[in-house]
Amino acid sequence: MTYDVIVVGSGAAGLTAALALAEKLKVLVLAKGSLTGGSTAWAQGGIAAVLDAGDTFEEHIRDTMIAGAGLNRQETVEFVIERAPHAIERLVKLGVPFNMEGNALHLTREGGHSHRRIVHVADATGWAVQSALLEAADANPNITLLPGRACIDLITGRHELRYSGSGRVWGVYALDQETGKVEAHTAPATVLATGGAGRCYLFSTAPRGATGDGIAMAWRAGARVSNMEMMQFHPTCLYNLEVKNFLITEAVRGEGGHLKLPSGVPGAGERFMPRFDERAELAPRDIVARAIDHEIKRLGLDYVHLDISHKPPEFVKEHFPTIHEKLLTLGIDMTAQPIPVVPAQHYTCGGVMIDLNGRTDLPGLYAAGECTESGLHGANRLASNSLLECFVFGEAAAADILDHWDAFDRPPPVRPWDASRVTDSDEEVVIKQNWTEIRRFMWNYVGIVRTTKRLERAQHRIKLLEEEIAEYYRHFRVGTDLIELRNLLQTAELIVSSALRRRESRGLHYTLDYPDTLPEAVDTVLVP
Ligand code: FAD
Ligand code: SIN
Repeated sequence: MTYDVIVVGSGAAGLTAALALAEKLKVLVLAKGSLTGGSTAWAQGGIAAVLDAGDTFEEHIRDTMIAGAGLNRQETVEFVIERAPHAIERLVKLGVPFNMEGNALHLTREGGHSHRRIVHVADATGWAVQSALLEAADANPNITLLPGRACIDLITGRHELRYSGSGRVWGVYALDQETGKVEAHTAPATVLATGGAGRCYLFSTAPRGATGDGIAMAWRAGARVSNMEMMQFHPTCLYNLEVKNFLITEAVRGEGGHLKLPSGVPGAGERFMPRFDERAELAPRDIVARAIDHEIKRLGLDYVHLDISHKPPEFVKEHFPTIHEKLLTLGIDMTAQPIPVVPAQHYTCGGVMIDLNGRTDLPGLYAAGECTESGLHGANRLASNSLLECFVFGEAAAADILDHWDAFDRPPPVRPWDASRVTDSDEEVVIKQNWTEIRRFMWNYVGIVRTTKRLERAQHRIKLLEEEIAEYYRHFRVGTDLIELRNLLQTAELIVSSALRRRESRGLHYTLDYPDTLPEAVDTVLVP
């Protein structure tokens, strides 16, 4: 089969691009593991858009820039926010069953938003969006969905059989996760929509496959990445010894939930957020997460409490049915009890640099969604702006490809994958050991509060692991775990290098060595 465009990733960004491209072109969508394995399916709170008569684009833009601590690119913020109502309209047409209030969409509220402007499907918005997009893609004869493909690297000019000297991208080498064979998929255009890198951290709300693959692949192929130090920690991940990555949506605070100190400490049962910010529980995420981290460290706690039990039980069950059910299985009744919560890694604000057309630095390579740095989020993403970015840039990348389709060259013959490597009996244990080590030192040294010394410690560990993992990669047959480990380390290296370069505290990057914010907001751009 030959395809016009390869889309890597079947989340909100990838499927939005694929559906738009499929109006004229043949599209191949590749996904690691299952088609619903990305973060999109897990999204809870909803999608931000100006839909209420009392709300304005200017206010949504202002809220986004305030949360982003001025590092956002105003042009991008305007571009995305002005397209939000149209994106929601398309989702409604696709059949996403958003909650209604009379004839209008019901709007909930989250931290950093000055208005109610989040459309949602109860507390499981992501699953509803993922299902609708997937159903449409599956029914489209111009789209081929290929799950179980872990892409390893981009195919570029240097993989051409007769090297032309071009830095162009021609597709991807992808591991068939069932057969273990590596295939070369080529096409005139490639769209990366591989999601974030949350699994660099020990505690993360992101799914298992969020290992920064697209960011690492684009970097190795020669694309710039930016603002990788801006790693977002969600304030309220469930604290539970068995279930380690279950998010308690920000909408719980939006609908009146309070953060309180747990029993057994001075001030037990008291709200602590008003001591940190006048917006209290509805301050932007960086502020709330840092406040919780501070209280946990100050009082030696395992967790703090998120309490919405003062609201009527029916209200709680109607707004948060999924969370309510899940917590009941763990012995917590949120209508009557507080929920133990801790901050956990949640979102990768930095990524592959793109312009307003979703173009990366490399000809033939586009990117959209969480793997990118588009300028929308700046130093801290405003809640529910992420799915929105996926829809707007998925569409923008597709439009640019369609507009310039006649100028795209056909891919030349490329070298097949070198499969002459062997397997090794202790490979698995070494991979597991290194994987855990990375996630642990990233959590301890590159977390919510940083210091230069901690970052340098992390950098030292990365250097030691680089040689070991490169050695494995050179000699042993690739499997999904090895592909992910290589990308995890690459992404960790980009995060730490970026964090060491930023000599100020801004948004999500807070360092005790440079606690002040410099007058000028400057992106941290890494050039391969
Ligand atoms: P994803 O949906 O993560 O999809 C990535 C795709 O890439 C997957 O198909 C994956 O298989 C594929 N892939 C990855 N690597 C490879 C590879 N090597 N080869 C082949 N395929 C690959 N944002 C909001 O705006 N509102 C919310 O309410 C919200 N809630 C959230 C709740 C949770 C628990 C989490 C984790 C995130 C939430 N977010 C929310 C963030 C948002 O869900 C994500 O940023 C967004 O879904 C990312 O979409 P995406 O299309 O970029 O990537
Ligand atoms: C949440 O529901 O709290 C997550 C929203 C988001 O990440 O934007």
